[in-house]
Amino acid sequence: MPILARLTWPTAAILLLASLLNACGGGGSSAATASATAMPTTPAAPAPLTLAQVGDKLFEDTSLSASGKQACASCHVEARGHADAAGSFLPLGGPDGTHQGLRSSPSIRYLDQAGAFAIDAQGRARGGLFWDGRANSRAEQARGPLFNPDEMANADVAALAARLRALPYAADLRTAANLPATATDDQLVDAAIAALVRYQTDDAKFRPFTSKFDAVQDGSATFTPQEQRGLNLFNDPQRGNCASCHDSRPAPGLTRALFTNFSYHALGVPRNTSDATANPAFFDLGLCGPLRSDLAGRAELCGRFRVPTLRNVALTAPYFHNASFATLEDVVAFYATRDLDPARWYPVVNGQVQPYNDLPAAYRANVERGAPFSRPGQAPALSAQDVTDIVAFLRTLTDGFTTG
Ligand code: HEC
Ligand code: HEC
Repeated sequence: MPILARLTWPTAAILLLASLLNACGGGGSSAATASATAMPTTPAAPAPLTLAQVGDKLFEDTSLSASGKQACASCHVEARGHADAAGSFLPLGGPDGTHQGLRSSPSIRYLDQAGAFAIDAQGRARGGLFWDGRANSRAEQARGPLFNPDEMANADVAALAARLRALPYAADLRTAANLPATATDDQLVDAAIAALVRYQTDDAKFRPFTSKFDAVQDGSATFTPQEQRGLNLFNDPQRGNCASCHDSRPAPGLTRALFTNFSYHALGVPRNTSDATANPAFFDLGLCGPLRSDLAGRAELCGRFRVPTLRNVALTAPYFHNASFATLEDVVAFYATRDLDPARWYPVVNGQVQPYNDLPAAYRANVERGAPFSRPGQAPALSAQDVTDIVAFLRTLTDGFTTG
C-alpha cells in the first residue's frame, strides 16, 4: 500500500478567508446578515466550500465510480449507521455494478480511535481499518474502494482524475485544496482523498454519541429492566463476556465507550453459502489474507477479523465480515449455542456436522472458545431469555435517541 504523501493544507488561510468573506456579507450566517445592511449593493459571493464540505459532496457522488452508479454513500448509508444499504448482502460493485464484493460493508462511525495496525510483543494484533486492518489511516483506506475492481473500479489515477475534472464542483475542490487550475492527476486525486478524510474526521455525524445508552450514561434516561439485564449479561465475564472485546466502558482517556477494543479474533462464523458462484476452495482468512499478504505465513492469525463497534448495530445488518447472519437475534444465539447445537448453524453432510466451515481445518485451533461460547456438555453460558435480553440492550446503542 503506497504511503500517501502528507499534504499540508493551508487550512488556517482558508478559514480566515471564509470568515473575511462572511464578514463582507458573502455567507448566510447571522453575522453576515447584520453587516449586509451596511453594504446593500455588494453582490453576494458564495463562501468557498471547505475541504470537508467538498468531501461531503464527493462521498455522495456516483460519478466517481466507473459504473456511474456507486458512491461511498451507496455502501455506507447514513440512515443505517453508515453501513450497508437495507436488504443488502455482500455489496455489488465494479465497472458494470455486478461484481460481488467479498465482505460486508461495516459502519464507518466511531473509527477515530482505531489507530494504526500493530502487533504487540505477545503477538496480539490491534488497530487499523478494514476487517483485516490493512489500512493504517482513512487516507490509505479511501484509495481502496475508489480503485477496487469490485467497488468503484477506477482503472487508475488518470481515470479518477478525469472524473474529478468533470465534476460541476471541480473548481471548489481545487480551491479548498489550494491547487492551481493546472493541477496534475496525482494532485487532484490526493486532494479528493484528503477531502473525503476531512469530511469523515470533521463531521459530527460520524461520532454523534446520541444513543439511549449515552443518555443513560448522562443521567437523562433509564434502561428498561430487560435492557439493564442485557447490559449486566453483556458485561459479566462468566456469561455474555461481550465487553471483553466490545468495551462497554470508555477506554483510558476517553469519555464514551466505543464497544470495540479494535483487537482481532476468530469466531468460526459459518460460511455464507448464498453466493452460488463462490469457489469452494477459496477462504477469506482475514489477517492472513488474501486482501493483505504481509501476514500470510502467520498461521496463528488466520481467521481473525477486527472486532467491530456495536454502536448502531441494530441498523447495520447483515452481520459479520461475510454477511452470514441477517438478524441480531441469530448473531447472539450463535454466540450462545455455537458449540452446544452446531447443527443449527453449520451444514450437516452425511450425518456429520461441519463446524467452523468457513475456515480450513489447519486454522480451527484459532477459534475462540471462552465465554460466551460453551463446551459441549457444559451448562450454556446464556439461556434463550438471556439472548433476548442482550438483544434488547444492543438496541439501545442506536444513535438519534430522543426521550419525547
Ligand atoms: C461497493 C461498496 C462500497 C463502496 C462503494 C465503498 N465502500 Fe467503504 N467499505 C466497503 C466494504 C465491503 C468495507 C470492508 C472491506 C474490508 O474489510 O476488506 C469497507 C470499509 C470501509 C472503511 C473501513 C471501516 C472499518 O471498520 O475499518 C471506511 C472508512 C470506508 N469503507 C469508507 C469508504 C469511503 C470513503 C468510500 C468512498 C470513497 C467507500 N468506503 C466506498 C464497501 C464499500
Ligand atoms: C473474543 C472477542 C469477542 C467476544 C467475547 C464477543 N465478540 Fe462480538 N465480535 C467479535 C469479532 C471479532 C466480530 C467480527 C467477527 C467476524 O466478522 O468474523 C464480532 C462481531 C459481532 C457482531 C456483528 C457486528 C457486525 O457489525 O457485523 C455482533 C452483533 C456481536 N459481535 C455481538 C457480540 C455479543 C452480544 C457478544 C456477547 C454475547 C459478543 N459479541 C462477544 C469479537 C467478540
